[in-house]
Amino acid sequence: MQAVEIRKGIYWVGAIDWSMRSFHGYQTGRGTTYNAYLIIDEKITLIDTVKATFAPELLARIKSVIDPAKIDYIISSHVEPDHSGAIPFMLEHAPQAQVITSLPNGEKGLKGHYGDLPLQGVKAGSSLSIGKRTLQFVPTPMLHWPDSMVTYCPEEKILFSNDAFGEHLASSSRFDDDVDFGTLMFECQKYYANILMLYGRQAQTALKALSGLDIDMIATGHGVIWRKHIQEIMARYEKWAAGEVEERAVVVFDSMWHSTESMARAVAEGFAQKGISVSFYDIKENHLSDIVTDILTAKYLAVGSPTINNQMMPTIAGFLCYLKGLAPKGKKAFAFGSYGWGGQSIGLVEEELKACGCEIILDKIRLANVPGAEDLQAITAKIKAL
Ligand code: FEO
Repeated sequence: MQAVEIRKGIYWVGAIDWSMRSFHGYQTGRGTTYNAYLIIDEKITLIDTVKATFAPELLARIKSVIDPAKIDYIISSHVEPDHSGAIPFMLEHAPQAQVITSLPNGEKGLKGHYGDLPLQGVKAGSSLSIGKRTLQFVPTPMLHWPDSMVTYCPEEKILFSNDAFGEHLASSSRFDDDVDFGTLMFECQKYYANILMLYGRQAQTALKALSGLDIDMIATGHGVIWRKHIQEIMARYEKWAAGEVEERAVVVFDSMWHSTESMARAVAEGFAQKGISVSFYDIKENHLSDIVTDILTAKYLAVGSPTINNQMMPTIAGFLCYLKGLAPKGKKAFAFGSYGWGGQSIGLVEEELKACGCEIILDKIRLANVPGAEDLQAITAKIKAL
């Protein structure tokens, strides 16, 4: 295991998790990386660690550059264990190191996870001289934990951004211009949608705080390092954080005997006839984390469920629970579904869409039993007329 020099005297020493397919429920089809950075200066500094199971990989990469016992500081940008999990292990190999963390939440979180550690808390605006270089600490609370912070090195114009601007993408390449741009941006949108969508306001605050910095490299906590497309990823974050939407529709449904599915097709046809592009998700065949990635930038959302045991389908209930937690912005929505008797599900879906913060733009569409051709044409006409 070798370190990768990303700037003279600054090394990527992280780990590549090729096989990871679920990040607490977020489906990560392309794996991920846990990025850590070693700065060789008068004070040897490690920025973040890796998930505990990858600690030997981190150590091996560090050892390819220096003796780990020489590390003076370990910066903990974020307590979540994918970044802090190897801190106790590293302290065994770097017994003189002080762990730098945000006050008060980083200190509280690290103590809560690992007990007593040699901690040194830093506040907003604090900086640390490590020799030729300075590290400035910028808190980014709730991006996406209370303790989160980023570190800026003005002499190198590098922002060590931890979770911000990252993506779950395992790759043998370390830089943004070495991977496919479309794939990269998809994974960034997926990351933002699933991890940060709820925190748009905090993301806007952080972007404002970072706007004054001269940045020519963003060394993230996951995925690739930005050196070419910095403006593009910043612009996407501005758009996502502001809740900007596109003239696109997302149709999500479950179905038992294809009746709600045929209604979903009629809804999609209505949007298509209106000239609005549609994404179509049978929830049995698609993962929540992919669906919300699409919803992030879509203006319209149609959700369908038949009625089962007086409720909506549990799959749709789970989807709406997940979406509610992410608090999507700027969605125009409606509910639809077929039923045999009762038909409570459609009203329940509508109520949940309201609870998600969606504006209901069409009264719920309910059809008993099997929709006929005229019923479906009427649905298409209704959507087209929106
Ligand atoms: Fe990558 Fe919030 O941890």
